[in-house]
Amino acid sequence: AAIVEHTFQVQNLNIQRLCHQQVITAVNGVFPGPTILANEGDSLVVHVVNKSPYNLTIHWHGIFQLLSGWADGPEYATQCPIRPGNNFTYRFNITGQEGTLWWHAHSQWIRATVHGALIIRPRTGHSYPFPTPYREIPILFGEWWNANIIDVENQALASGGAPNSSDAFTINGQPGDLYSCSSNNTYKLQVARGKTYLLRIINAAMNNQFFFKIANHSMTVVAIDATYTTPMVTDFIVIAPGQTTDILLKTDQPPASYYMAAHTYVSSQGVPDTTTSTTGIIVYENSTSSTPQMPILPAYNDTQSAYKFSTNLTALVNAPHWVPVPLNVDEHMFVTISLGLVPCEVNNTCAGPLSQRLAASMNNASFQFPTNLSMLQAFFNNVDGIYTTDFPDQPPLVFNYTDTNNNFNTTIIMTSKSTKAKKLKFNSTVEIVLQNTASLGFENHPMHLHGFNFHVLAQGFGNYDPVNDPKNFNLVNPQARNTIGVPTGGWAALRFQANNPGVWLMHCHMDVHLPWGLSMAFVVENGPTSSTSLPPPPADLPQC
Ligand code: C2O
Repeated sequence: AAIVEHTFQVQNLNIQRLCHQQVITAVNGVFPGPTILANEGDSLVVHVVNKSPYNLTIHWHGIFQLLSGWADGPEYATQCPIRPGNNFTYRFNITGQEGTLWWHAHSQWIRATVHGALIIRPRTGHSYPFPTPYREIPILFGEWWNANIIDVENQALASGGAPNSSDAFTINGQPGDLYSCSSNNTYKLQVARGKTYLLRIINAAMNNQFFFKIANHSMTVVAIDATYTTPMVTDFIVIAPGQTTDILLKTDQPPASYYMAAHTYVSSQGVPDTTTSTTGIIVYENSTSSTPQMPILPAYNDTQSAYKFSTNLTALVNAPHWVPVPLNVDEHMFVTISLGLVPCEVNNTCAGPLSQRLAASMNNASFQFPTNLSMLQAFFNNVDGIYTTDFPDQPPLVFNYTDTNNNFNTTIIMTSKSTKAKKLKFNSTVEIVLQNTASLGFENHPMHLHGFNFHVLAQGFGNYDPVNDPKNFNLVNPQARNTIGVPTGGWAALRFQANNPGVWLMHCHMDVHLPWGLSMAFVVENGPTSSTSLPPPPADLPQC
């Protein structure tokens, strides 16, 4: 095992996209940011130097952070922000997991441009549970605004509505040639014929899920969220913000150029902001023709195809770091995910988070981040008043979750601002059914759990049925991941073991939903020994 050390200089960068000059916040002068490459078992040391004008933290999305919760990164959850002009060094070990993850800013919306791949290869002497690929290529999806991202966020929050939609989707930072002024810089992947490439695909977009497809090629999914899957042959993938998907691509077609393309996926009732695709080009050595073939993607609202893809994935049993499903459940939770409107008074102060009319909630609690101490510091030092541990195991009312009118009214009445956490005993097993209530906006919610992978036991549409649906739980080889897209008017049943003391957020990875309150936190108590307890914070941990 090695120590992998990086320095992240975070500062303004002037770049051009879509014929437009824009100052963005970037790491080490590149967008997307640098790729971190490590082996399982390594220790990572990242010195973050904040020369940007914004408060900042970095989150290592999908990393377990076993006994190193201080390095997880979400602002005000596990640390106070790194102020402009200040530094902080993240130190943690990467153990018990390998595959494709990523890192991103976890303050305001800075992650739009402050993100990059975090690739964990098997330990030296260990191999993949599939033939060694010829090359490994990170593919990051993103969103680009012809505007300062903090201005976009502030405008959305001040208006109480949705943000201005992005001006382009990107592949490895480039919109691709369907967008104006972009064709010269379209992302190109030069390939040799007759080889197998491992594409490590990361959805780093702010508010869009994608369908992704490569013209004339099928692909084989071999991992999701850094867990190995039963190889699954498909001609498209669907990927939500926060998720990763590793595919094997065989370059077995005639030497030519082929587009890879991604466009938005919204639910069946949803309306996309744009149906434009971001493109990249796969160029074979010795290609003859120069006009690439274009793939035909599933329709932007093809919920059935997306659902089929997502539910067909299973774990590769006995693969490296495979974990069987814990069979004894200690805590059962049923958690509704809602968007809604909250009552506003005449003087325009509304009951929602940020005093706005739009709110999002879990079990009708709209999450507010503290500002004067991080939740983890409050946990470690037994400080009261930063959060409460009364996050409910059930929504406050029973209602028809997929009856939009009924639910809509309930949401209006019940949403309230709070910082509620669910306390868990060390090593307890938690089962959570996430029910998307389809109350407003008809959106899918990619729900991300910090600090753990969870098993996805089952998914479905309509109201979860606590009597019959558990009969269909997959307890043998369910997919394990850290982010699950819960469809509009549907549900997902998850299970995880709380084997890591600390404070761990579970939130929607649509960035527009987070400031509206679509989050909660788990507080996992220390275990019985010092080796199962959270150690003290690093000396340079930023203070509020
Ligand atoms: Cu990738 Cu809390 O986020």
